[in-house]
Amino acid sequence: MQLMHDVAALRRVVRDWQHSGQRVALVPTMGNLHDGHLSLVESAAVQAERVVVSVFVNPLQFGEGEDFDAYPRTLEDDCRRLDGRGADLVFAPGVDAMYPGGTGAATRVEPPAALVDTLCGRSRPGHFTGVATVVAKLFNLVGPDIAVFGRKDFQQLQVIRRMALDLNFPVQVHGCPIVREADGLAMSSRNAYLEPDERRRAPALYRALGVLVNAVRQGGRDVAALESRARAELEGAGLEPDYVSLRRPEDLAPPRGGERQLVVLGAARLGRTRLIDNIEFELTDGGSW
Ligand code: PAJ
Repeated sequence: MQLMHDVAALRRVVRDWQHSGQRVALVPTMGNLHDGHLSLVESAAVQAERVVVSVFVNPLQFGEGEDFDAYPRTLEDDCRRLDGRGADLVFAPGVDAMYPGGTGAATRVEPPAALVDTLCGRSRPGHFTGVATVVAKLFNLVGPDIAVFGRKDFQQLQVIRRMALDLNFPVQVHGCPIVREADGLAMSSRNAYLEPDERRRAPALYRALGVLVNAVRQGGRDVAALESRARAELEGAGLEPDYVSLRRPEDLAPPRGGERQLVVLGAARLGRTRLIDNIEFELTDGGSW
């Protein structure tokens, strides 16, 4: 496994691989890798002959007062974890390499408002523009055949699919299942911020989403009541709900009738940590929304 910081060297290696007919998969990350990230790398290795993992804490996607400075940077550990998991190259550029013209007035990729003025994008203005911009840049730098993302960041995945479509990137975007701790908490680099007592309460988010899914499966259709019950459960567990929302997976719009595929998404604050999670589900036995 090679570690590279330099853009020109990265382009050379990837071009050589592709010239010899090998497909390249990219797994974009911000590092501090856990088993969720590693599952993406393993999936990438099944789908392509070569796997590039990028590690870059992207300043553009952090808002004012968010945790850009505190975000854990653990490149040495990350490389140790990646070794033997199917990664061929770790690309860890500095901010200057990624944003040669600076970050302040950089050209940006702005996703459609309908996808970003809702859910996480509402409480984190500009966040998904930062994500779409850095992922478009990584697609340009690496030129992957396949790019692998986690379904944990469900809104992010849909923003990236749409960005790749709208900007004609010849990249197949693949979404991998959420990897959870034994008690249901979705793995996240930000879980490291949780105090022991908070860590015990954190699985309440996944539990509240699961209760809502079961209620819908059993015929519950009063969205406002279902969502406010979920919020009350979160508050009862000492979490500060941001949103709990039932949506259509493909465009994140509220269900309008007739849907069989649904997703419930939630975000809540626990101390200084913002948790997000979601459950995708299908209404079976001929049922629909
Ligand atoms: P990061 O939070 O490091 O996540 C990198 C990838 O890992 C994302 O696709 C995310 O959805 C996936 N992931 C994180 N936790 C997961 C889990 N528990 N199960 C499955 N997949 C999981 O997301 C980002 O970085 C950034 O926004 C990035 C796309 C790299 C752009 O900067």
